[in-house]
Amino acid sequence: MLLDLAPKRCKKDFYNFEEELKQLHKFYLSSRVITVLGPRRVGKTSLILTFLNEWNVPHIFIDCRRVSLSSYGVSFRSFVEEFSRALNEFISRYRGRAGKFLEYLRNVRGVEIDLTVAQVSLKWSRRERVDIITILEKLNRFAYEEGLRVALVLDELQELQPINIDFTKLIAYTYDHLTNIVVILSGSQVGLLYDMLRVDDPTSPLYGRAIAEVRINRLSREESVDLLLRGFKEVGEDVSKEVVENAVNVLDGIVGWLIYFGWNYIHGVKTLDEVLDIAARQEAEEVKRFLTRSRSERRYRAILKAIAEGRCRWSEVKKSLEILEGVEIDDKNFNELLKKLIKAGFIEKVNGEYRISDTVMTRAILKYL
Ligand SMILES: Nc1ncnc2c1ncn2[C@@H]1O[C@H](COP(=O)(O)OP(=O)(O)OP(=O)(O)O)[C@@H](O)[C@H]1O
Ligand SMILES: [Mg+2]
Repeated sequence: MLLDLAPKRCKKDFYNFEEELKQLHKFYLSSRVITVLGPRRVGKTSLILTFLNEWNVPHIFIDCRRVSLSSYGVSFRSFVEEFSRALNEFISRYRGRAGKFLEYLRNVRGVEIDLTVAQVSLKWSRRERVDIITILEKLNRFAYEEGLRVALVLDELQELQPINIDFTKLIAYTYDHLTNIVVILSGSQVGLLYDMLRVDDPTSPLYGRAIAEVRINRLSREESVDLLLRGFKEVGEDVSKEVVENAVNVLDGIVGWLIYFGWNYIHGVKTLDEVLDIAARQEAEEVKRFLTRSRSERRYRAILKAIAEGRCRWSEVKKSLEILEGVEIDDKNFNELLKKLIKAGFIEKVNGEYRISDTVMTRAILKYL
């Protein structure tokens, strides 16, 4: 069903993006590291899951956002727990052949195997901490023996920045030595993801290694209308063209918000304003998470507010911040703050002016931040 909130896994529920799917498939066959990039809610996770499912690709899918939302916080422990979960899913899918993989994992430090249910549990405590690279080496060996090309997906990797694991090194090692594993990374905070990978830094382990990129963009106006009309038709909901067009006018071609609107509409939330409000509250949480992790929370908040209120020129934004703080702010420091907000995908610079990346985000900042 098109109007469903879970990430899509089948082509029949996945509107358009045929080209991106094909591109991802081509890169999967020919590249070692792939990034799937695009603004929030444009369907990155759905693209990856649909690809893995439709092409029957063996994979380990790690949801890094889930790691960062874990009750243990972003930590080695929460990462290892998510990694265990993903590994067990992989093992379950390969039930027939998994015995061999479990065999490879025997006697590996920090790995406990329960043969009765064919599942593993990875240890995170300092005393018996598992070594992620060793697990990947075993996985690669298994993949090699079985003639598989396993996709290791790290969805929203930038969320794991605070963890004490050198992902750049881990990915570079996989790139160079584990040739039956393909790494797929996704990120809505594109700049932060690339900062984390330090691809342009000659001292980075990933420097000089080719990274294939799949970019997902927003839908055009016509596509947005078509998506909603199809979605409503599929569930037999009679909706006027006017309702659809009003929604499309404010939802900026972002698949996730269009679907969100359609889903709410068929579940009784009929006014666009209400839907925008629920969506905005969710987005505000995402911004807050970013802010509480940064050292300049107050300043970022002030910048976002100023831009959301329509002060879009560099000098206007800076002035708002200076009035708030009562002191002059150094240009260089100020530019760093702007740059970081762009990298995190909250603001964009268009024709020399700053703006919030979409309507839902603007409302989130104005009302709930
Ligand atoms: N091509 C598509 N056709 C139909 N629905 C889609 C499509 N892509 C995404 N969706 C829907 O949009 C919403 C967001 O999708 P998804 O989680 O895949 O996006 P995302 O870019 O990974 O989002 P985030 O930035 O939050 O990680 C979900 O409800 C999903 O079902
Ligand atoms: Mg996603």
